[in-house]
Amino acid sequence: RIVYVNGEFLPEDEAKISVFDRGFLFADAIYEVSTVLQGKLVDNAAHLARLQRSVDALNMGLPCSLEEIEAIQLEMLKRNDINEGGLYLQVTRGAADRDFAFPKDSKPSLVMFTQSRPVIDTAAAQNGISVVTTPDIRWQRRDIKTVGLLPASMAKQTALDAGANDAWLVEDGFITEGTSNNAHIVTKDGVLLTRALSNKILHGITRKAVLALAEETGITVEERSFTPDEVSNAAEAFITSASMFVTPVVTFNGEPIVDGKPGKVAKRLRELYIAFAL
Ligand code: PDD
Repeated sequence: RIVYVNGEFLPEDEAKISVFDRGFLFADAIYEVSTVLQGKLVDNAAHLARLQRSVDALNMGLPCSLEEIEAIQLEMLKRNDINEGGLYLQVTRGAADRDFAFPKDSKPSLVMFTQSRPVIDTAAAQNGISVVTTPDIRWQRRDIKTVGLLPASMAKQTALDAGANDAWLVEDGFITEGTSNNAHIVTKDGVLLTRALSNKILHGITRKAVLALAEETGITVEERSFTPDEVSNAAEAFITSASMFVTPVVTFNGEPIVDGKPGKVAKRLRELYIAFAL
């Protein structure tokens, strides 16, 4: 694999990043994952806009313009000859002597790598996934897409250890989101429920596109918090993310949702999202 590090395209074993990089020492770093479909980036302008928002929220700055970042992204797709998968990019505040205060003169780092993997034809999309709830122990600025992902990683591992595919996180009795995806349900009345945007969840790029598609198709969308009980009693549940698109959730805390099969709305929204992404 060819990776990108601060101006250079290199074989992955030749790439270097400083031990003093604040991404490594403080998780002082922002990332984005864009999906690649038929050799093209999906909804990438929205990902770059969110990158800018995250960076601004932390007063971090970018090493180059968004246009230049996109040019590097496209070069990475070419050099890795990737048709379907993901492109990961990370910006850190750069290397500086270890100090909790933001350094005044560090130079932001930019790294990228690609991951080749099926996006459309997956077992998760076909059969749906199982989720279990775990407490949301993350920080209070989940709207900033930082690499401080240990709580999310712990939640994912808890889910896997419990025999499930993923975790839905719970705070103050309400679902916030999945470990690395936004959580949605469809009530028995056919209303698509999804948590409203705030600092409590990541403002998903896929969430936004899917909600727009749902409204265009005449599905009623209500942005409000919902409880684990509402999930258990829902007609359907699904997740959205750049890497999973729309993926049905068919088992919740060990119990099937209705018949334990992917729901109609989730299937339809996945089709619509794929058409949008192509
Ligand atoms: N995760 N919520 C969280 C906590 C996430 O980490 C993600 C994305 C999402 C969905 O956002 P989007 O639709 O913009 O991908 C929601 C990425 C895919 C990841 O960490 O790999």
